[in-house]
Amino acid sequence: MTRTAEETKKLFDTWASTYARDLENANGILEGYETSIDTAAEVCPVTHDILQLLDIGIGTGNFAQRFEAKGAVISGIDLSEAMIEECKKLHPNYELRMGTFQTIPFAQNKFDVVVSSFCFHEVSPSQRLDACREVNRVLRNGGHLCLLDIMFASHSAMAEAKSHMLSHWDDSEDYSLVGDLSENLYASGFHSVQWVQTGRLHWICLAYK
Ligand SMILES: C[S@@+](CC[C@H](N)C(=O)[O-])C[C@H]1O[C@@H](n2cnc3c(N)ncnc32)[C@H](O)[C@@H]1O
Repeated sequence: MTRTAEETKKLFDTWASTYARDLENANGILEGYETSIDTAAEVCPVTHDILQLLDIGIGTGNFAQRFEAKGAVISGIDLSEAMIEECKKLHPNYELRMGTFQTIPFAQNKFDVVVSSFCFHEVSPSQRLDACREVNRVLRNGGHLCLLDIMFASHSAMAEAKSHMLSHWDDSEDYSLVGDLSENLYASGFHSVQWVQTGRLHWICLAYK
């Protein structure tokens, strides 16, 4: 059974103060977290020009900070107030707001790049098409989305991962199939959707508006 948004918020509010430390030794479905984040930052085309970049589900800012190093101006949103507070302590120069994939509190066409890591699976399947439309709304024409998450190529691949993970598998999570997300992105106005697999469970999606 999947969690409600209220339960997800509570989970991350409680986890926020130790999240960054815990992820230094990520295991289970997040095993390989740092490698996947590094790879996503490498494959996401952000030049040294000043770019407006939004990170959705920014957490403590670990993914966004890779793009700050490339000169991007960082905005971030998160469902969890406590995560936003932790992020503020580490990155006082970021523009941080409460918000979700489904309701992004910024004007249309504002961003050159939207990124997100390990957050999209928190959006319930019935809301994923609307979430893709909302990301498309805040991107400028020619801008792109770089989305990293736990995803699977097929139901069989998901079943196989579940049988390997045993107690590490969380039945309250509902991960995307890459084909389903591709369909939602094309239906939301994106084109040239590309995929890179960074580990057994992690995929990066690049999509252009
Ligand atoms: C596993 S953490 C990932 C944080 C960060 N992106 C990283 O890679 O370290 C997921 C984050 O997404 C946030 N979140 C969960 N559901 C969300 C939603 N629907 N919209 C925006 N943020 C959400 C959580 O509060 C949490 O900070």
